[in-house]
Amino acid sequence: MRTFAKISQVAHYAPEQVISNDDLANIMDTNDEWISSRTGIRSRHIVQDEQTSDLATKVADQLLTKAGIGAEEIDFIIVATVTPDSAMPSTAARVQANIGADQVFAYDLVAACSGFVFALSTAEKLIASGVYQKGLVIGAETLSKAVDWSDRSTAVLFGDGAGGVLLESSDTPHFLAEKNRTDGKRGQGLTCGLTGLSSPFSTKGDNDPYIKMDGRAIFEFAIRDVTKTIAGLLDSQGVAADSIDYFLLHQANSRILDKMAKKLGVEVDKFPANMMTYGNTSAASIPILLSECVENGLIRLDGSQTVLMSGFGGGLTWGAMLLKL
Ligand code: ACO
Repeated sequence: MRTFAKISQVAHYAPEQVISNDDLANIMDTNDEWISSRTGIRSRHIVQDEQTSDLATKVADQLLTKAGIGAEEIDFIIVATVTPDSAMPSTAARVQANIGADQVFAYDLVAACSGFVFALSTAEKLIASGVYQKGLVIGAETLSKAVDWSDRSTAVLFGDGAGGVLLESSDTPHFLAEKNRTDGKRGQGLTCGLTGLSSPFSTKGDNDPYIKMDGRAIFEFAIRDVTKTIAGLLDSQGVAADSIDYFLLHQANSRILDKMAKKLGVEVDKFPANMMTYGNTSAASIPILLSECVENGLIRLDGSQTVLMSGFGGGLTWGAMLLKL
C-alpha cells in the first residue's frame, strides 16, 4: 500500500522579550507610524541570550509532548534556518543532542524565508518513500544577530522565533501538489552572512555579515513572481483560489499579503497574519503562523481543510504547496 505523509502536531516558541516599534524609536531614527503603515509590524520578540538551537529545542520538546511520544520514536530532524548557532555542528544536530534523539539523522536546510516550505517538501518525500515514519521539521531563527542595528531600513523588519511540525506516515494523501523555485541570478537583492576569503592567496574580500535588502525589488518579486507561482499551482490542480480555506504565507509585510489577496481575487481574511507581533521571522514565520492557527481553531488538522502554504525570500527562493490539513 502506498505511504503518504501528514502533519500531525504543530508547536511554536518565541523568546520572552518583546520589543515594540516605540522601543526601536528610542534607539534609532524611526517611528511607529512609519513601521506599522509600511509593514503592519508593531512589535517583535528578540532573544537576550538564547541561540537558534534553544528556540528549536523548545519546539521539538513541545511536539514530542503533544504527540505523547519519546525522542527515540523519530527518524529525522530538519531545521530550516539562516541563523544557525554555528555552521558545524548544525542547529539540527544540537537539537538532536538536546532532546536525546540518538538514532536520528539531522541537518539544517538553508533557503531563507522559503526554508520551512522547502524543508517540508523534502521531509514529505522522506516519509512517502516508506523508509522513515516520523520526522521533526522546524523553522527557527535569531535574525536579531543578523541585523545591522544601525540600518533602520532593515532592523525594524525582523524578529526571532521558532515553529515546527511533527510529520508522520499516513494512509491518505495530505500533500496534494507543490511548486518550488530558486532564482540565484536575482540573489543580490537580499543577502546575509557574506564571508570574506581568509586564504593568504586571496586578492579580494567581500565581507558583509549583515542583512542587506533592496526592499522595492523584493516587494515586487513577492507580488509578481510568488503570486504567479501560487496561481499557476492552483490552475494546474483545477482548484479555484476562492475554494482554498486558508492561505498560510510567509509573514514579511501586511501590504504584500493585501496585494496578493487582491491579485488572486480572494478576501484577505483568508490570509491569517501575525507579523504584527512577530515581525518577519524568515524560516520560522509559516510554522509559527500554522501553530497559532491551530491554537485558535482556524485550522483543525483533521484533514478537512484545503490550505495553500507559500514561502518566499532570499536566494531568491519561493515555493507553494497545496495541502489537506
Ligand atoms: N523608519 C523611518 N523611515 C525609514 C525607515 C524606518 N525604519 N526605513 C527607511 N526609511 C525612510 C527611507 O530613508 C526613505 O527616506 P527618504 O525618502 O528620505 O530617502 C523612506 O523611508 C522611504 O524608504 P523606502 O525604502 O523607499 O521605503 P518603502 O516605501 O519602499 O518601504 C519596505 C520599505 C517596507 C522595506 C518595503 O520596500 C517593503 O515592504 N519591501 C518588502 C520587502 C520585505 O518585506 N522584506 C522583508 C525581508 S524579505 C522577505 O521576507 C521576503
